Amino acid sequence: MRKFKNIAIAAVVIVALGTAAYGIAQAQDAAPQGDAVSGKRIFLKEACFTCHGRVGEGGAYNGPAPILAHTALPFEGFKGQIRNPVNDMPAYSETMLSDKDIADIYAFVESLPGPGSPKDYPILNN
Ligand code: HEC
Repeated sequence: MRKFKNIAIAAVVIVALGTAAYGIAQAQDAAPQGDAVSGKRIFLKEACFTCHGRVGEGGAYNGPAPILAHTALPFEGFKGQIRNPVNDMPAYSETMLSDKDIADIYAFVESLPGPGSPKDYPILNN
């Protein structure tokens, strides 16, 4: 009986650890699956490109509009800026841009190459 009790406790511990690990994996993988092709279309249609550049290379609006290509922002931060911009960027409410639209835009900008290194340009290495 004692042996059975130990096995039961071990089983409970294993299930608890497994559940915790699964929870962590889910949290890290929080960015919803977006469609980059649709994201590009929305990015151009909703005029994000007027400030951020057609391939997210950055631009200007009052001050600099940041580079979005290959953004380092996590999805929640990316979405937060779109819903409640920190400064001069216009806000996009849920009726203008759904969460799915934002996920698609995120997939699009993530798919773009980020800013290159000067080493990538032979003319700068003479
Ligand atoms: C009228 C110009 C303008 C438009 C249009 C615009 N933005 Fe912005 N965006 C900015 C500026 C300026 C900032 C810098 C922060 C601020 O002023 O709020 C910014 C910041 C951001 C950031 C934060 C980037 C970072 O690394 O900090 C994201 C993400 C972003 N914009 C996404 C978008 C998306 C997606 C769209 C289209 C749905 C869009 N923006 C449309 C001007 C614009």
